[in-house]
Amino acid sequence: MSKSGDGAADGATPLAPKLKQLIRLLGDGRFHSGTELAQSLGISRSAVWKYQQALTDAGVDLLAVSGKGYRLNQPLQLLQEGQILEHLTQDASALLRRIEIHDRIQSTNGRLLELARESGESGVVCLAEQQTAGRGRRGRKWISPFGHNVYLSILWRFQGGPTVLSGLSLAMGVAVVRALRALGVEEVGLKWPNDIYWRQRKLAGILIEVGGESGGPCHAVMGLGLNVFMPGRDAAEIDQAWVDLHRILADGAHGMRNRLTAELLNHLLPALAEFESRTLAYWLAEWRSYDCMLQRPVCVFLGEQRFSGEAAGIDDQGLLLLRQADGEIRAFASGEVSLRQS
Ligand code: ATP
Ligand code: BTN
Repeated sequence: MSKSGDGAADGATPLAPKLKQLIRLLGDGRFHSGTELAQSLGISRSAVWKYQQALTDAGVDLLAVSGKGYRLNQPLQLLQEGQILEHLTQDASALLRRIEIHDRIQSTNGRLLELARESGESGVVCLAEQQTAGRGRRGRKWISPFGHNVYLSILWRFQGGPTVLSGLSLAMGVAVVRALRALGVEEVGLKWPNDIYWRQRKLAGILIEVGGESGGPCHAVMGLGLNVFMPGRDAAEIDQAWVDLHRILADGAHGMRNRLTAELLNHLLPALAEFESRTLAYWLAEWRSYDCMLQRPVCVFLGEQRFSGEAAGIDDQGLLLLRQADGEIRAFASGEVSLRQS
């Protein structure tokens, strides 16, 4: 495995080094005096004071109290490659080619799609503190504020053409649930095809984008957005029920981003590596055991059309099954379909 730091990628805008150092110093969420911060950064106290605006612009909430100093509204653990690598299993390390960590980028998926056009690399992981144009399925926006959540993409190359990838999204969903369970997060489920839910609220989403010739080989970029802590003002932009790990875990989730990222890679990288050598049947039973919509009243949206009924699981090809009022069962492929609880 070779490593790299903040790659020079289009659409990536790194923070000034001193600003990043300041965020790291304040990350514990405790008060730090202006004098202490000035000394650590090798700048004047008034220069520290001037950084307040830059922090706000970066999306970091700072509290300044006279006589006490500065502290962040919420503790914040910046991503660190060393800490992620420390928690990787040998299997995952062997599959990882390198990690890119960006302070601010339009979209980690976009970055790796661009890389796929330029190089033949596979196993590249792209992470960001913030996405300025994070994307969800069907052109929707993924809310991606600075420093609190996981925005993770993996570029992977496959021998076969894009048709071998049907079912990949189900496998990726299973891998994410396994990772969360390994960290003690219970009650996580999957909403077809690959949204990760906790008690009927969306915790994470997966977006897979594929390129390559129809006959093969092809590449896929698997993108995962997972909410660790969603600040209130950003949450207001989400137009459906959502949740973050901070609200799920009794001890909160502020200090776990690097560990969590590693655990996700420990499950996602092997799942990608073994995907072509396994049949879909390998993933189906486990996916079904996590199905959080089963037997619930739902609506399926397909373009302008709307179908209501009861979710009846998935068939052996991974298609969504809907039991309609007349008892007829209808199957839907993912792509342009949207499933909602009614
Ligand atoms: P479906 O794919 O079945 O339509 P969905 O309704 O979740 O599921 P997606 O396109 O998969 O839609 O996801 C994008 C949607 O996710 C956005 O419309 C928004 O409501 C929501 N969303 C955006 N950012 C976040 C986030 N950080 N956490 C949770 N939900 C988010
Ligand atoms: C969805 O549920 O709609 C999928 C959301 C996928 C979001 C992730 S965040 C990392 C990667 N980069 C993106 O722009 N999108 C995916």
